[in-house]
Amino acid sequence: MKRMQAYRIHEFGDLKQFRQETVDVTEPTEDQVLVRVQTASVNPVDLKTLAGDYPLVGADQLPYTLGRDFAGVVERVSNDVRRWKPGDAVFGFVGQGQGAYAEYVLVDEHALARPPKKADASVAGAVPLAALTAWQGLFDHGGLRTGQRVLIHAGAGGVGHCGVQFARYKGAEVFVTASGDSLDFVRELGADHVIDYSTQRFEDVAQEMDLVFDLVGGDTQTRSWAVVAPGGALISTLTEPSQAEASAHGARAARYTAQPNGAQLASIAALIEDGRIIVKVSETFSFDEAPQALARQKEGHVRGKIVIDVATGHGK
Ligand SMILES: NC(=O)c1ccc[n+]([C@@H]2O[C@H](COP(=O)([O-])OP(=O)(O)OC[C@H]3O[C@@H](n4cnc5c(N)ncnc54)[C@H](OP(=O)(O)O)[C@@H]3O)[C@@H](O)[C@H]2O)c1
Repeated sequence: MKRMQAYRIHEFGDLKQFRQETVDVTEPTEDQVLVRVQTASVNPVDLKTLAGDYPLVGADQLPYTLGRDFAGVVERVSNDVRRWKPGDAVFGFVGQGQGAYAEYVLVDEHALARPPKKADASVAGAVPLAALTAWQGLFDHGGLRTGQRVLIHAGAGGVGHCGVQFARYKGAEVFVTASGDSLDFVRELGADHVIDYSTQRFEDVAQEMDLVFDLVGGDTQTRSWAVVAPGGALISTLTEPSQAEASAHGARAARYTAQPNGAQLASIAALIEDGRIIVKVSETFSFDEAPQALARQKEGHVRGKIVIDVATGHGK
């Protein structure tokens, strides 16, 4: 049986539990594709899972390989898979399955798409989770339409910076909260109105929003009700918004979990290929440096995405 290096956690805790080890490579069955990982990206969910704070990964799933999205090359496919073959370049979001901080990852064939031609593997690996979360939040759950007004909280982060560009591409009027050097970053991405959340109250700038896309939660979410237009929506990736507030404002509210979706990822790849969307990689770490990559994510203030180059630096 083939063996590989992977970062697994055997118990919930802190970065001390996040260790590289040698594990078996699982063979693909049914709709599965085995992908040799080139790059994987860091997402806040990795830290939440590590801490035992992510409700969709319980103790019964330990040991668990972290890393939710990746770019790589198809190694093997199960007999039932028709759309992919060994040697195909792919990228994807694994959902809640065993993850991509590993030399090989098993993925459902429907979660995969061809990476954008112009993007190198470092950028491609940064795309799937963040971009699909932004796409599904704005369009599937938020129903954002041309000419509408949208407020995106945390517009400089992984999900946010994709969301700013998707909303702009859709022809919405885009309001964004960010701080520090990230203000220019979101402006360059196409935000119409940039709000420094550290010095300004977003309520003073953004009013009558058709959609608030909440990537912050807590007090930011609660305060956001004041800026939602009647008939509008508040969509969050974090805490469940209050349905009582929603009906008091004649609005809609939802919290959602992003889902793997190869077809949507193919649409996103086409936008990247056309140069309409850029995905910003702020830092890249080797595979052996994956703990430092997670530590960097934990510090916060990430602009765009942090990537782990799985293909380099094995065997600590
Ligand atoms: N439900 C789901 O399926 C799903 C999917 C993806 C992500 N998420 C969640 O969504 C959140 C965002 O994800 P992400 O990947 O975009 O995270 P990220 O890349 O770590 O986002 C970091 C950004 O958030 C900004 N920020 C922090 N506090 C802020 C505030 N009060 N107002 C405005 N901006 C603020 C930071 O700006 P500064 O530099 O100013 O600190 C930084 O630019 C995370 O909590 C993540 O767990 C959920």
